[in-house]
Amino acid sequence: MNDSFSESGFDLDQVDRLLTTTRAVRKRLDLKRDVSDDLIFECIDLAEQAPTGGNDASRRWMVIRDQDTKDELGRLYAEVGTLFINARGRLDGTGHPKERVVSSSAYLVENFSKAPVLVMCAIWGIHDNSGQPGLFDSAIPSAWSFNLALRSRGLGTAYATMLNNKAAEVTKLLGIPPGVTTLVCFPVAYTIGHEFSAAPRRPASEITYFDQWGFTRKQPSPDGSARVVDGPGVVVEIDTDARPKAVWEVISDINTPARFSDELVQAEWTTSGDRGVGSTFRGTNSIPDVHDWDTNCIVTAWKDRETFEWRTTDPENPGAIWRFDLVEQGGGSRLRFSMTIGTENNSTAPRALQDPARQSEILHERRLIHKANMQRVVEGVKGLVDE
Ligand SMILES: Cc1cc2nc3c(=O)[nH]c(=O)nc-3n(C[C@H](O)[C@H](O)[C@H](O)COP(=O)(O)O)c2cc1C
Repeated sequence: MNDSFSESGFDLDQVDRLLTTTRAVRKRLDLKRDVSDDLIFECIDLAEQAPTGGNDASRRWMVIRDQDTKDELGRLYAEVGTLFINARGRLDGTGHPKERVVSSSAYLVENFSKAPVLVMCAIWGIHDNSGQPGLFDSAIPSAWSFNLALRSRGLGTAYATMLNNKAAEVTKLLGIPPGVTTLVCFPVAYTIGHEFSAAPRRPASEITYFDQWGFTRKQPSPDGSARVVDGPGVVVEIDTDARPKAVWEVISDINTPARFSDELVQAEWTTSGDRGVGSTFRGTNSIPDVHDWDTNCIVTAWKDRETFEWRTTDPENPGAIWRFDLVEQGGGSRLRFSMTIGTENNSTAPRALQDPARQSEILHERRLIHKANMQRVVEGVKGLVDE
C-alpha cells in the first residue's frame, strides 16, 4: 500500500487536499456556466450522510433557479451586505488584513443573484436555546459536507449566512412554513480553475488545550502525558472593547504584569534607548515564604500593536518564553498572554525531570499558578483599557 494511504484505505493526499482547499469561493465562481440538477442531487445525497441529532431526518434543501426569485434574494442579501460594500471603500489599497475577504464578500453581494443556482439548507425546528441537540445544529455538519462534495466535483460556493437577518422576508418569498429555520444559502457555480490554497490558520499546538483550559504543549507527546521536553505552556485570552493601539500602550510597559501578578513584583529595563528585539530587563519575583529571585529577560519579538515576547535567563535555552499577542476583534481587541516552560534555567523543569512519576503532576500544579497569575494580568489590562 502506498504511504499516502491511511490504515482505513483512504488516499490521504486527496482527502487532505479536499479538506485544506475547500475555500470560500466568490470571485472565482463561473457565473456563466449552468449547474445540473443531477450534480445538486448528488451533493445533497452526500451531505445527508452527515450526523444528525437523535438521528432525526429533519433537514430540507431548496434549490432556487427562477431568476426573479434569485433577484429578490440578491436584493435582500445586498440590504445586509452594504456593510461589505462600505468597508471595501475604506479598506481597498490599505493592505489591511481583512482587505481581501472584504473585497471578495462585497463582490458576492453584487453578484449573488447571478449564481446559476442558489441552494438553501434548512431544518425543521426553531432554535429556542432549549439545549436539544436534535434540530438546528444538525444542519451545520451537513451544510459543510455539501461544500466538500461541491469542491470535489469542480464546483464551489461560499458559506453565506447573511440572509438569516432577513428570515421573515425569505420565508415569505419561498413559501417556507413556520417552524422551519433556514441556515445558509449557497451561491453554487463551477469554479474558475481548480487550484486553491490552504488558508493560514493557527497551528493545533497553539489552540489545543490538554486536560485544563489553556494548557498547551508545543509538540505532541508520544505517550500523551505532559512532559518538560514537549514545551508545556499556558494561554489566557481576553477580549477588550479598546482597540489594539490602546492595549499595546499598556502591555508594552514591562511593569504591567507586575501590577496584577502575585508572583512578579517589578521589572526594570537594563538597556536604554528604543525598545525592541534585543532590549533587556530584569524581573523581580517572589513567592512569599518560599523564595525570591531575579530573572534577566531579553526581548525576542516586538511588533507594534501585535507582539511582545521575551525569554528569561538565556535566549538560546530559556527558562521560560512569555508572549503577548494582540489582534483586532469585533471592533475591539483580543489579547492573548502565553508562556512556555523551558527545559532548564527555571525551578520547575529540574524538579519535574527528577521525579518522572510525578512529572505531569508537577507541571500541572505549576501551570495552575501561572494560569491564575496570567488571568489576573489580562483582567487587569482589560480594566485599564476599558475603563
Ligand atoms: C458561520 C459562517 C458564516 C458565514 N457567512 C458568510 C456570508 O454571509 N457571506 C460570505 O460571503 N461569506 C460567509 N462566510 C464565509 C467566510 O467569510 C469565510 O470562511 C472566510 O472568508 C474565510 O475564507 P475561507 O473559508 O476560504 O478560509 C461564512 C462562514 C461561516 C463559517
